[in-house]
Amino acid sequence: MGLGPVWELRNQPSESPLPQQLDAGLTAARKPVAESNHTIDLGALAQEVAQCKACGLCQTRTQTVFADGVPGSPLMVVGEAPGADEDQQGFPFVGRAGQLLDKMLHALGMNRRSNVYIANVLKCRPPGNRNPEVSEVEQCTPYLLQQIQASQPKVLFLVGRFAINALLNTEKPISQLRGVVHHIELHGRQIPAVVSYHPAYLLRRPEEKSKSWDDLLLLNNTLNSIVQS
Ligand code: URA
Repeated sequence: MGLGPVWELRNQPSESPLPQQLDAGLTAARKPVAESNHTIDLGALAQEVAQCKACGLCQTRTQTVFADGVPGSPLMVVGEAPGADEDQQGFPFVGRAGQLLDKMLHALGMNRRSNVYIANVLKCRPPGNRNPEVSEVEQCTPYLLQQIQASQPKVLFLVGRFAINALLNTEKPISQLRGVVHHIELHGRQIPAVVSYHPAYLLRRPEEKSKSWDDLLLLNNTLNSIVQS
């Protein structure tokens, strides 16, 4: 299945994946920034997570998967849980779903080496890639909230129902939540959040990619409006 062309805007040179009008004014929004909250030490938090035995997943994990990317970035992506590749390598979204996520980010002129921070709701792989259990999500979400607080993203991109449920506290299906900008209140700050389908779901259901593209455009507009306000 060819994934790449789906995320290229038509009639654009490949090195400029966004149309000029979208690209204009993005530079400041997409720069890595040093606005992270230093009252939370992400290194210390990662060490704490690495020792965590709060749920049974500690018995089956190869290692914990804390985050990837640049803390303090304007965009933070939140996924569900590590899969087999992530459990082996210790970084989120490094398997096939991660490659698709990278293509989606690239379409916005963004990437995890310079201006995106990425984490999951769960820091340990559920065996056999089963769905996270409610108790596991409850145990692990405080770590995610601390990561968000430390990184201070301008916008959150929540992919898949477990990230959405954990942070928006809703059981509604993604189809009913897409298309509007939500907000998460954290320590008195309202953080805009755009929701979309999980890249792993898009790999199974490529016909849904056009909806995901619409979500990326909303994410792009949201990032732009924040830098211009
Ligand atoms: N799916 C996720 O939600 N997170 C990962 O890190 C990998 C796959």
